[in-house]
Amino acid sequence: MRGPQQGGYQRKGEAMNEKAVSVLGLGDMGTALADALLAAGHRVTVWNRTAAKAEPLVVKGATRADTAADAVLASQLVVVCLLDYDSVSQVLAPRTDVLAGRTLVNLTNGTPGQAREMATWAADHGADYLDGGIMAVPPTIATPAAFVLYSGPSGAFDTARPVLDAFGGSHYLGEDPGLAPLHDIALLCGMYGMFGGALHAFALVRSAGRSAAEFAPMVRRYVETMGVHAEAMAARIDAGDYANDVTSNLAMQAAAYGNFLVAAEEAGVSTELITPVHSLLQRRVADGHGHEDTASLVELLRN
Ligand SMILES: NC(=O)c1ccc[n+]([C@@H]2O[C@H](COP(=O)([O-])OP(=O)(O)OC[C@H]3O[C@@H](n4cnc5c(N)ncnc54)[C@H](OP(=O)(O)O)[C@@H]3O)[C@@H](O)[C@H]2O)c1
Repeated sequence: MRGPQQGGYQRKGEAMNEKAVSVLGLGDMGTALADALLAAGHRVTVWNRTAAKAEPLVVKGATRADTAADAVLASQLVVVCLLDYDSVSQVLAPRTDVLAGRTLVNLTNGTPGQAREMATWAADHGADYLDGGIMAVPPTIATPAAFVLYSGPSGAFDTARPVLDAFGGSHYLGEDPGLAPLHDIALLCGMYGMFGGALHAFALVRSAGRSAAEFAPMVRRYVETMGVHAEAMAARIDAGDYANDVTSNLAMQAAAYGNFLVAAEEAGVSTELITPVHSLLQRRVADGHGHEDTASLVELLRN
């Protein structure tokens, strides 16, 4: 496999910072990634199942490949951003002969198991494989708000990084290709937990005829204020220390949480987003941990 010591992505005649890079998949995210690469001055080849989606990028200077295999052949660095791993397999499997010597950077959402399986499959066909998780939405790609997680061979990451940095901050997590999707999914679960809580909150205030827009600044302020506790919670979880310096014990929280369910019922709002935490609180208190901190609930999540 080609590594950094073998010359990276520079081609004869290219400007110092200009690299050839191909992008497979021009949905909302793939288009934003290709846009960012063009803006960074790279030589970008694009392919998409629905070819018409390439046109706006061609206008900006990208080259449209007729087939996915042609796109792979056009660059040593190949960024893949499709709907799911099934679509990645469908796109790459028919022409595995073109993969040798390439670095595949798969930014498609998937599981750690899928990433490890695809890394093995890519290696079997002579390609380096980096898996990635994009912690951004398309409009924030290439802004300071965006960061992307990567895992896989460190040499391949080091070589690709100058190009990948066009998307936002690049965070390398380690050689195991499953690490990026693991952290990606963990962060997305955190996001959905927050959004789930916010949706329940909006439904509650709307039940009283209040404006969600007027309430939103309070939601944002409170979520941001409580978010600063993430590090303290993490320190307790790493140390397994849930009983020292507790200021909001679980027994108190379980008593208050019962009111959340009653208030939702009174308001005619579904309790389905908030019930699971109530169950955990009740179980942990019943198990004799009522004096402990919120972080203690993590013990119930380990199978
Ligand atoms: N958008 C976001 O906010 C966001 C944020 C972080 C990560 N992501 C991840 O980025 C990836 C792409 O998301 P997106 O927003 O670009 O999705 P999208 O707009 O729905 O685009 C999906 C892409 O996958 C292609 N595709 C789907 N099935 C295919 C198949 N069987 N064969 C070939 N191509 C196929 C589509 O091609 P056609 O155009 O031909 O349909 C299109 O290029 C996903 O894994 C997503 O989880 C997205």
